[in-house]
Amino acid sequence: MNIQTLLNTRIQDAMIIAGAPEGSPAIVRQSAKVQFGDYQANGIMGVAKKLKMNPREFAQTVLDRLDLSDIAEKVEIAGPGFINIFLKTEWMAQEVARVLLDARLDVQKVNQPQTIVVDYSSPNLAKEMHVGHLRSTVIGDSVVRTLEFLGHHVIRQNHVGDWGTQFGMLLAYLERLRKENTAVSMVLSDLEVFYRKAKTCFDEDSEFAVRARELVVELQSGNEQCLALWDEFIDISLTHCEETYKMLGVSLKREHVMPESAYNDDLPTVVAELDEQGLLKESEGAKCIFMEEFANKDGEITPVIVQKTGGGFLYSTTDLAALRFRQHTLGFDRGLYFVDARQSLHFQQIFTLGRKAGFVKAETRLEHMPFGTVMGSDGKPFKTRSGGVAKLSALLEEAQERAYTLVSSKNPDMAEDELKNIGRVVGIASVKYADLSKNRTSDYVFNWDNMLSFEGNTAPYLLYAYSRIASIIKRSDINMDTLNGPLLLNSDQERALSVKLLQFAESVDQVAADGMPHFMCSYLYDLAGVFMTFYEACPILTSEAEVKASRLLLAANTASTLKKGLELLGIETLERM
Ligand code: ARG
Repeated sequence: MNIQTLLNTRIQDAMIIAGAPEGSPAIVRQSAKVQFGDYQANGIMGVAKKLKMNPREFAQTVLDRLDLSDIAEKVEIAGPGFINIFLKTEWMAQEVARVLLDARLDVQKVNQPQTIVVDYSSPNLAKEMHVGHLRSTVIGDSVVRTLEFLGHHVIRQNHVGDWGTQFGMLLAYLERLRKENTAVSMVLSDLEVFYRKAKTCFDEDSEFAVRARELVVELQSGNEQCLALWDEFIDISLTHCEETYKMLGVSLKREHVMPESAYNDDLPTVVAELDEQGLLKESEGAKCIFMEEFANKDGEITPVIVQKTGGGFLYSTTDLAALRFRQHTLGFDRGLYFVDARQSLHFQQIFTLGRKAGFVKAETRLEHMPFGTVMGSDGKPFKTRSGGVAKLSALLEEAQERAYTLVSSKNPDMAEDELKNIGRVVGIASVKYADLSKNRTSDYVFNWDNMLSFEGNTAPYLLYAYSRIASIIKRSDINMDTLNGPLLLNSDQERALSVKLLQFAESVDQVAADGMPHFMCSYLYDLAGVFMTFYEACPILTSEAEVKASRLLLAANTASTLKKGLELLGIETLERM
């Protein structure tokens, strides 16, 4: 249990014994200032108000029933009724030493693991992955890693778009290239170009357009030749995605792909079941669901359309089928969808409808994890210099080159191989970290100089801090396995670093609860900062043996925590750079 949860539980128990209603929250937070202690509980005031008691008096009643003597050296009432908690230094000294011996850094697995479906990345296979897919892919992957670390059973679902009318056009173009004996693999090596060429033919050549429409019908009716062509196209497109995942260090594999087309056979059943439940209504020939919940202030309802006039199914129908599959077949307890904020209404509707129709159990938690847009410096969605959509693979190449140039200038004597590797790690980390460190729900501006800077909350700053600490440990020439606690926490800086180290578990829990990796980024950035302050005030290698050993333990613990935190973000570390 992390410290915050432990304090929350203990204080809440004491509040209830003191007369607070069941479930009254203690609201324990990390204190913003040292004079307020390490943690502060501010739930007392709200409860005292309900009980019509003087808050400071109620706080005293709670304190009389609260025993924190094992972990706190001082617990005091402050202001209108806050409870300030000062952790016991000896306790921390033991804890930090203990954490270091534990590969999990004292983050315990959850008592009740859940089956969690995480729907992320999910690009459309008609085109190549672009910068818009970065967020879903890297944020989703980091949350997946965190949930798995906590012991949950995570099922990755890459809900790729592999069906729909655009495929007719692409197949018609593929067919034409085949007839002309053009080397198809070459043309397909750049899907963006392929798509553009197909689109031009479609727009300018009426015969081609007719063939494209025919192919859509053939594809839908299961024509074998047509399916073979489609299979080939999908395979190439997925290979492109996999290359990008590999470059990004993202854990998605072929087996996690659960494409839209996989639900094709379920779509008529979904519509039939909605009909059985009496939920369907015809509107202009289309099958729709009108839910009161989605009425605007004039009472107009945006319906969910599940089948078009003419019989075609839609994105929504597939998502309902996916919900049904995730409940019936995968048996999920929680579903997280990392998809652009612009699809919020879609997901609210699908989730509400999925419950109404009985596709999902009432107790299953469904969460759309929306994210904002990656913007250019012009305040518009990020584009390449020529104004096209920024291909993700090209962007990642550029990141590695820029990082390489940067680290080469800093290390003129380093071997080429190592420079290349550092360039790769720093480049990829910079792009990922820039994305992960922003609040998920806001838009952010894509800026090379900021993300590659060695100052501020950036990947280069953290990677550099890590490598610096790693080198201090190496230079000490001490076998770290022979060191043990308790530590000597005699200065404010040593104490502050220890508190920070012990708060790692809180950040892990926060990322898992809210699906927001920026909490981990802020924590790691703070930790590196607290370490630097400690390092300036407390020399390590030149101190006498006992002090040196204790400070080395603190350094080693900081290094493992940075490494583990970055690993949960999906970021590689470097022992030197
Ligand atoms: N392919 C969709 C898009 O590019 C995203 C799919 C997200 N997942 C889902 N279950 N709808 O917009």
